[in-house]
Parts: sequence; structure tokens; C-alpha cells
Amino acid sequence: MITIGILGGGQLGRMTALAAANLGYKTHIYCPEQDCPASHVSSDFTSAAYTDTAALDAFARSVDVITFEFENIPHTSLEQLQAIKPVYPQPTILQKTQDRLIEKNFVQSCDIGTASYQVVDSLDDLKTAVAAIGVPCILKTRTLGYDGKGQYKIADNAPATRTAAWEAMHGQPAILEGFVAFSCEISVVAARTQQGEIALYAATENSHKNHVLDESLVPARISDAVRVKAEAIAGTLAEALNLVGVLAIEMFVTESGDVLVNELAPRPHNSGHWTIDGAMTSQFEQLVRCVVGLPLGATTLRAPQIRMKNLLGEEALDVAAYLQNPAAKLHLYGKKEAKAGRKMGHVTILS
Ligand SMILES: Nc1ncnc2c1ncn2[C@@H]1O[C@H](COP(=O)(O)OP(=O)(O)O)[C@@H](O)[C@H]1O
Ligand SMILES: [Mg+2]
Repeated sequence: MITIGILGGGQLGRMTALAAANLGYKTHIYCPEQDCPASHVSSDFTSAAYTDTAALDAFARSVDVITFEFENIPHTSLEQLQAIKPVYPQPTILQKTQDRLIEKNFVQSCDIGTASYQVVDSLDDLKTAVAAIGVPCILKTRTLGYDGKGQYKIADNAPATRTAAWEAMHGQPAILEGFVAFSCEISVVAARTQQGEIALYAATENSHKNHVLDESLVPARISDAVRVKAEAIAGTLAEALNLVGVLAIEMFVTESGDVLVNELAPRPHNSGHWTIDGAMTSQFEQLVRCVVGLPLGATTLRAPQIRMKNLLGEEALDVAAYLQNPAAKLHLYGKKEAKAGRKMGHVTILS
């Protein structure tokens, strides 16, 4: 029997493990935290640091193929694993998407637009970059940011604003991005097999609250021309990365119909959770198929319109209405404490 190793034990790992189980595979979760959501639904679990070389070695030897649901795995650890078992998506892909500067340089090298950007390694650099890019703009740490963490919006030219922004980076290398006055945010999830077969999911329209995804709507309310551009971008990037696995592409759509890439995630994505109930094959099953070498499944919609709502913090305590709605499918991740802002679950409503 095939065992899939998954680095990271959060809800993405949990839903990947459930999809793997549906196809008859075992999973082995590797995660520093004990009692993590994915550990509840997998046959094997290792709790160790991502830098624990002995634990990584034993993990790799216990599985047939390795994937990840967490992006901040040190590259040296992935290289160690890859020397023992295949890792998909390939570590070189994660290396490109872990750093916002490398990621944007790569996207632009594919002739795909992004926000304007400039590297910032000091307060002096920031002054030059703000002068070049103009306000409003956003200073972001190059690595380790998620859900809006490690970001500072600069709305004016006051020196005090730049100082506060630079201090918010805590000395980490940063990138300054021009603020995109987008008309909407969309994402496309792409899957690509070892043979180069590609499948795209319908573009999803995303709305955020406090920098965290709140709702996703499918199909996105965009013109055909924008949809075609977004799909072309997704296909180009999956090819250019030689992707094996799943890649989410977050994009801004401007008033004039331009599509700019915001960021890439070479893993299942929160904006693709609707695919569990709303598509013939979920993004998680698609990942499993890619890593074990099965052909892709259909990405066809199961309903004309699908809405996914994240349940953050205490929103997850109030699920009675969703349980009663025959068009709603509730997913809870088995997290103990409903801390403010924590992703506790999601609900998908088909109509
Ligand atoms: N350059 C930008 N212009 C306009 N809005 C932005 C820009 N960068 C980020 N945002 C807003 O902040 C959100 C989070 O930023 P993102 O770069 O995706 O970081 P994270 O890794 O936290 O998801 C985006 O989804 C978007 O709403
Ligand atoms: Mg993002």
C-alpha cells in the first residue's frame, strides 16, 4: 500500500489526507505541533521540528512520496528528503515562491504583470523605493508572511510613516509594492501531472476581511476576456515551473481589465476549498493524483454557483443555520480553541 508523506499538519494537510484515504492511500503527517488537525485523520504521525534531520530521515524512509501543505519548510530539509523519496511539488518550486522578490522576478520573466516593486533592505532603500513607486504602497517582508502578517501599508510621504513601516519589518529583507487599485481579487488553482497534463479550476472571486480570506465565489464575476487572461496566466506558470502537483495563483483584476499576479502558493489553497463539494474532483484529490502518478480528475462544477465562507474564530461556534441549510456543506477542522481570527472551518453553499 502507498503511503503519502505530508509536511505540515493544518487543515490543508487534513483535507489532503482525507482525499488520499478516499483513494485507498495511507498518509504520514510530519508536523512540529502535537494534536494538529491532520494528525486526527492520518495513519502515521511524526511530531518533530522541520530541521530535525534524524526525524526527517525516518519520515522519508517510511513513505513512498512526499508533499507539503506548509510553505515555510527550510530548503535544506526538502533537499534532504528529496535525496530519499520524491517530493512534489519539487523543492525548487517552493524555493521560488517562498521569497516575494524571487517570486515576482519569476512571474515577470514569464511576461506576466505584477504590482510594481522594489527591494528594500534599509530605511534608506525604503525612501528611494517610495519615491520611485509612489504612495499608496505596501512594504512586505520577503519571506514568512501570511494572512497579511509582515505587511505595512504606506499611505503618505511623511518620514515618520516610512520609519514605522521599516520598524514593522524587524530588520528583515523586504519588498515595496505599489498598491493596486483592483476591482476584484481572483485566484485560479492549477494541477499538473508528472506527464504534463494540466487541469484548471474555474476562477474564484475572493473577498478578504482583516487580510484573511472571508468568502470565495465561483464563478468569479469577471468578463470572458479577463477569465481567458487568468487561465492563460495559470497555464503558463504551471508549465514554466514544470509543476507536479497543485498551484494556486492569486491575482488582481484592475478596472481596465488587466490581470496582475499577486502571489503563488504551490499547494492547495483556501480559495479552492469549494472544490470539495463544488467540483467533480477536489483540489486535494487532484494533488494526491499528481503525487502518486494517477491521471487528473474533472474540474467541472457541480452547481451553477458556489460560495465558500471561512469560519474564523467564534463564527465556528454558530453553525446551526448551516447544518439546517440543505444546500450547505459544513467542514470543521478539529481545532480546540476558537481563537479570534483562527481558521476553524468553512462552509460551502451550492446554488
Ligand atoms: N500590492 C497590493 N495592492 C493592493 N492590495 C494588496 C497588495 N498586496 C496585498 N494586498 C492585499 O492584501 C492581501 C494579502 O496580501 P498577500 O500579498 O496576498 O499576502 P499574504 O501572504 O498575507 O496572503 C491581498 O489579498 C490583498 O487584498
Ligand atoms: Mg495572499
